Amino acid sequence: MSTNSIDSLLSETRRFAPSAEFAEHSVADRDIYDQAKADRLGFWADRARELHWHEPFTETLDWSNPPFAKWFADGRINVAYNCLDRHVIAGNGDRVALHWEGEPGDSRTYTYAQLTAEVKRAANVLTGLGIGQGDRVAIYLPLVPEAVISMLAVARIGAVHSVIFGGFSADSIRSRVADADARLVITADGGWRKGKVFPLKAAVDAALAPADGEEPTSVTDVLVVRRGENVIDWVDGRDHWWHEAIADAEPEHEAQGFEAENPLFILYTSGTTGKPKGILHTSGGYLTQAAFTHKNVFDLHPETDVYWCTADVGWITGHSYVVYGPLANGATQVLYEGTPDTPHPGRWWEIIQKYGVSIFYTAPTAIRSFMKIGRQVPNEFDLSSLRVLGSVGEPINPEAWIWYRDVIGGGETPIVDTWWQTETGAIMISALPGITEAKPGSAQTPIPGIVIDVLGDGGKRVDPPHGGLLVVSEPWPSMLRGIWGDPDRFIETYWSKFSKDGVWKYFAGDGAHVDADGDITLLGRVDDVMNVSGHRLSTTEIESALVSHTIVAEAAVVGAADDATGQAVVAFVIIKSNQADAQTADEASAILRSHVADRIGAIARPKKIFIVAELPKTRSGKIMRRLLQDVAEGRAVGDTTTLADTSVMQIITDKIR
Ligand code: PRX
Repeated sequence: MSTNSIDSLLSETRRFAPSAEFAEHSVADRDIYDQAKADRLGFWADRARELHWHEPFTETLDWSNPPFAKWFADGRINVAYNCLDRHVIAGNGDRVALHWEGEPGDSRTYTYAQLTAEVKRAANVLTGLGIGQGDRVAIYLPLVPEAVISMLAVARIGAVHSVIFGGFSADSIRSRVADADARLVITADGGWRKGKVFPLKAAVDAALAPADGEEPTSVTDVLVVRRGENVIDWVDGRDHWWHEAIADAEPEHEAQGFEAENPLFILYTSGTTGKPKGILHTSGGYLTQAAFTHKNVFDLHPETDVYWCTADVGWITGHSYVVYGPLANGATQVLYEGTPDTPHPGRWWEIIQKYGVSIFYTAPTAIRSFMKIGRQVPNEFDLSSLRVLGSVGEPINPEAWIWYRDVIGGGETPIVDTWWQTETGAIMISALPGITEAKPGSAQTPIPGIVIDVLGDGGKRVDPPHGGLLVVSEPWPSMLRGIWGDPDRFIETYWSKFSKDGVWKYFAGDGAHVDADGDITLLGRVDDVMNVSGHRLSTTEIESALVSHTIVAEAAVVGAADDATGQAVVAFVIIKSNQADAQTADEASAILRSHVADRIGAIARPKKIFIVAELPKTRSGKIMRRLLQDVAEGRAVGDTTTLADTSVMQIITDKIR
């Protein structure tokens, strides 16, 4: 985050208490903080017991082999049963689970009874394909109901899903499928985006075709949902239409209980190295915290609320707050396939009006892009059903916070700014809307049962008001259980910085400020991870993609502050000397931007590429990204004295400005 926006965050003095009426009907009451403080593990055990256990647990936390935690380990649970059958058995089978809206305007509604029936059939399809407990299934789908159904069907049979965001490239699919040794891929012919069908199956075909010198992948079957109706290639024996398989499947399926620590999913996310990390989550603890936070942070009244989280299921927000949290709580929710501005800039607000959405959860980038277009667009729609607004994925600047509350929330709705990560599995820091006096731009308070500290140099807690590094000081139910196949990287990345003398602290990679009230304001990543529109990208991964192009000699990538997207990807590239005259700098930049999109996905495409003759390096050869960031953000270049060649920055800035 730029220094300006940090200053404006920290000098914010406006406060917004919940209305007396909201507070009176709030799901959470103030006592839960005290309860959690008095007996933290007992508090989580009680939350876990709100779920259905096939066999109850007797031990809450096993922390005998830190940092590898086990929660509720001797209990048995079925995650999908908790999200489906349980509600039908309780008499809520006719309640709408999903109001799905396709981008072209088609729509489908699933009650809990219908969703349960679909998932049972899908579970039988998976079993019929030989998938069993512990097997990995990759899911590469647009935001259609089948995405939710597939995830739940995989969970129901104790298998492990790895959802790959539909915007990722064939290369990204291939590396994820190979890392997890997936047996099955569930995809679609295509999906709708910005008024057009984009192909998905073609990327899966390319990912599964053996590359030169590489082993064929572990995938034996591909299930294909018909959505885009675009022309696709077909591999006989490997490919199966989803609708045919579902129609042929047995309708009955009894959910069995699995160990609480049975892996539920792997989700790949960017770290500081070139290779995405497979973050592993398991069943009982994950579902406990996803359900508890969804209910209390959004003040969910499942009988009356209509909830909408705009995230795609390809991200952690879609896992915890589109699929598992809301469905475990029996919520009625909206699922929308497309982009916010198709076919018109008021599409989201039209959907809120159509379904009477009362709880809305989205990212600051989206809010800022609506701000730019102006309030006249949302003002055309009736948004009076909204009563809670949420924000996630990146710091929200106070201007956007106030606009969100005033224009979307009618000047009245509480806003919860929720801090968490793929690794934390569920919300960790957030206001509770009926209790907390909200501060624009601040995530504020750890949720009950979560222990957060902000540490300074040497690992000491900072004296507020002060900034430092954010850590989680006690294990939590939905914590990642590891990095798939790489326990050493798990320990090194998250636990090595601040743990000592048998006290384990999880280092989140974020900077944070604690104010005099003890409220926490997030300040952005402190490592080589960028946050572009709330999506995590690794500088190193994009650099690797750039240097994989034949014309590139060296590349350095930085995240530069950007008014719209929070950060933007900016690259500095040295072209090989024998290639330097083959194209202009503009041509080279265009070639490389699309090369990155092909290698990783369009979200990683650099906003700007500067072709340079040198990169600033220390005497030991480390690229000083801090200086490049100064250039990318248009600032005076900082201290260059540790550079091996101090004239380099002058050469770069002369060329660029
Ligand atoms: O830097 C923090 C930022 O997003 C990172 C986690 O990214 P990801 O794993 O993709 O999960 C995003 C959705 C949970 C964090 O390390 N971040 C997330 N929420 C906030 C945030 N930064 C500031 N405020 C937030 N509310």
